[in-house]
Formats: sequence, structure tokens, C-alpha cells
Amino acid sequence: MSRERIPIGADHAGFELKARLTAELERLGYEVEDVGTHSATSTDYADYAHPVAREVETGEARRGVLICGTGLGMSYAANRHPGVRAAVVWSQEIAALARLHNDANVLVLPARFVSAEQGVDILKTWLDTPFEGGRHERRIEKIERKEEE
Ligand code: RB5
Repeated sequence: MSRERIPIGADHAGFELKARLTAELERLGYEVEDVGTHSATSTDYADYAHPVAREVETGEARRGVLICGTGLGMSYAANRHPGVRAAVVWSQEIAALARLHNDANVLVLPARFVSAEQGVDILKTWLDTPFEGGRHERRIEKIERKEEE
């Protein structure tokens, strides 16, 4: 069976945490596609959010990971892609709920507000928690139907 490929991206604020999460994903057996950034030099989060979100939008990747200082800029950009549900997550409980209730297919971490250890724990919870379906299925369908009442 081929390994799942997970695209990951970060700006300068998330670049250190990205290295840690990349190592963890590889240790867990995933194939990681690192879209950058590759240094702590100041850069723009949208340049990394769009390539990761585009892969999830088109189905090239099932899920992706983004990191910036607050998580907010990355989530704004990623959530403009149809079918992408990018969740800013700061605890394992939110990670579980983002999967169970919201079927989050992009994990967004706020590097300035979680430790590396918390980041790894959040990542593992997000990777391993299934979508609950049921009533949440209908709610998720309504996210894409923004023209309707
Ligand atoms: C960069 O300083 C910071 O603004 C960025 O990482 C992110 O927090 C934006 O939402």
C-alpha cells in the first residue's frame, strides 16, 4: 500500500514547528511534501497556504498541514478553496472536535501559542480521529451552499 502524502507549509513564524512536525509525520510513515518556507526569513503566509489547500481542493492530497504565528492568516487563505475545511487548533480537544464534528481536512497550528510538544500531540490527535458523520454531514454540506438560505 502506498504511503499517504501530506503537504505541509509554514511562514517564518511556523518554520521551526514545521520541521518538528515533518519529522514526526515521517516517523509515523507518511510521505511529507514540504512546500516551504525553508528559513526564518520574513515571508507571506498565503504563498504557502494556497499550494497546500489547492492539493486538498483538487483531491491530490486528502489532507494537509499549515502553520503560522496565530494560525489565522493560513486559515483565511486555505478556507477560500472549495471543499477545504482548515481548522485553527490549539488543543487536543479542539483537534478531536475539528475532526469529529467538522471533518477538518487541513490542520492549522498557531506556532506562537503552542509548544512543539503540544503541536505534535495535536497533530497525532487530528491524524487519528475519524469524522463522526450523521448530523454533522448535513452541516458540512451547508458550508459550501452559501447562496442558499
Ligand atoms: C507573521 O508575523 C504573522 O503575522 C503570521 O505568522 C500569522 O500569525 C498571520 O496570521
